[in-house]
Amino acid sequence: MKFATPPILVVDDERNMRSSLKTLLSEEGYAVSLADSAESALQRLQDEEVFMVITDARMGGMTGYELIRRVHERWPDLPVLMITAFATPKLAVEAIQAGAIDYLSKPFAPEELLHSVSRCAERHQLIQENNRLRNASREPYTLSHIVGDSAEMREVRKLIETVAPTDARVLILGESGTGKELVAGALHSLSRRKARPYVRINCAAIPETLLESELFGHERGAFTGAVRQKPGRVEEAHQGTLFLDEIADMSHPLQAKLLRFLEDGSFTRVGGTQELRVDVRLIAATNRDIVAAIERGQFREDLFHRLNVVQFRLPPLRKRGEDVMVLAGHFLEQLRHGINPRIRAISDAARRRLLSHRWPGNVRELKNAIERALILESTPEIQPHNLPDFEVEQRLARSGAGADDVETGSLDAILALHEERVIRQALEQNRFNLTRTADQLEISRHALRYRMQRLQIQSGEDPHEADSLPGTAEAGK
Ligand SMILES: Nc1ncnc2c1ncn2[C@@H]1O[C@H](COP(=O)(O)OP(=O)(O)OP(=O)(O)O)[C@@H](O)[C@H]1O
Ligand SMILES: [Mg+2]
Repeated sequence: MKFATPPILVVDDERNMRSSLKTLLSEEGYAVSLADSAESALQRLQDEEVFMVITDARMGGMTGYELIRRVHERWPDLPVLMITAFATPKLAVEAIQAGAIDYLSKPFAPEELLHSVSRCAERHQLIQENNRLRNASREPYTLSHIVGDSAEMREVRKLIETVAPTDARVLILGESGTGKELVAGALHSLSRRKARPYVRINCAAIPETLLESELFGHERGAFTGAVRQKPGRVEEAHQGTLFLDEIADMSHPLQAKLLRFLEDGSFTRVGGTQELRVDVRLIAATNRDIVAAIERGQFREDLFHRLNVVQFRLPPLRKRGEDVMVLAGHFLEQLRHGINPRIRAISDAARRRLLSHRWPGNVRELKNAIERALILESTPEIQPHNLPDFEVEQRLARSGAGADDVETGSLDAILALHEERVIRQALEQNRFNLTRTADQLEISRHALRYRMQRLQIQSGEDPHEADSLPGTAEAGK
């Protein structure tokens, strides 16, 4: 069964590979969009809605791993399928750790790819359906969903109770993963509007060019592709709550239009002339530093004041003390039934580790860490080695992705690590062509081979690493 989904973005620097993937997917009825580098893929994602990304692992310029990392940061729900050249478990793990939902190693059968894509398509449908149901259901969130005993979180719950029944506009600030969506949902559930629609729009996830028409609707023929009239989400939210998430990502012209809308609830559809009016309560959120955005001229100060009637500042998890363990216990209970019911506790060593981490991804990161540990754990208690290696992650974050841990050990060991990294990088850049790699490093091919042997770097010359789909001949391989 085929669903009407947005296109799949295929990223590969090999033209043959792109076109064979395109043919394969188009024949199955998927719309396909192509990018020849990770950089242009990121650009594309800014402007276009896609439902999944398929990327090659090694490409000239930014690698597939780095692409996944960035996609994951910006669009955490967008599934990415990685195609790697080797069938080694290490690379598979790397792909999954970077955030790929699946990986395929070359060569693969077309059915394998299609199977993985159709799973993503189904997931996409499910998420859409879930969002629809969640938006439609009467009580999506309650105060009890907001877990935490710290003074700050108690204060947050109290403020929600006070503010929810009013029609006051609310601005929710806080780092990524601190629970802004949860608070917005609770505000709606506890309001007089709770039986009315709750409409959430993620201003960062919708391409800038489409956001205005998504929000305010368009008339037929307003732009290419506007084949019929479409009411805006603000109309859908009539008498209910409109939650504008990631508001700092909204473009300047749209900020102006929103400001007018906030003045008296009136607006016109894109390409329309008729003035329409709705009654909505507005909640907005952002994880950006909004004051800095105002200072840089990226966010209108007058709009900020209009939105900022009541302000919630959700503290980062690292400032919530013991809440880390309260939340860890909560997620353990919530998730273990579905994953591994035998696991009932968190070991002391794991607890120390959880408490010492800085949690840059906040509650979302903690939830993911517990989920991962539940999958990996084989004893009845979560052990520290099944938690992510926070130290390495922090170092990576500090020194930029790809930097290795080379600070400790003997000089020889440190140099060897460096050497290995440089050689691997050069090999990847040159798609494992030894002559070109040797040229780039200004050593002989023989010397390169010798070093690779010494450092146990695979040469990439076995048939598994052929860079092609079955049946696709590629020149120069
Ligand atoms: N206090 C909390 N109690 C229970 N679950 C929480 C709490 N805070 C956050 N979560 C969970 O953590 C995840 C991230 O929360 P949420 O999506 O609300 O973050 P956010 O602040 O909107 O992040 P972003 O800025 O990245 O959009 C969700 O799964 C949410 O249910
Ligand atoms: Mg959010």
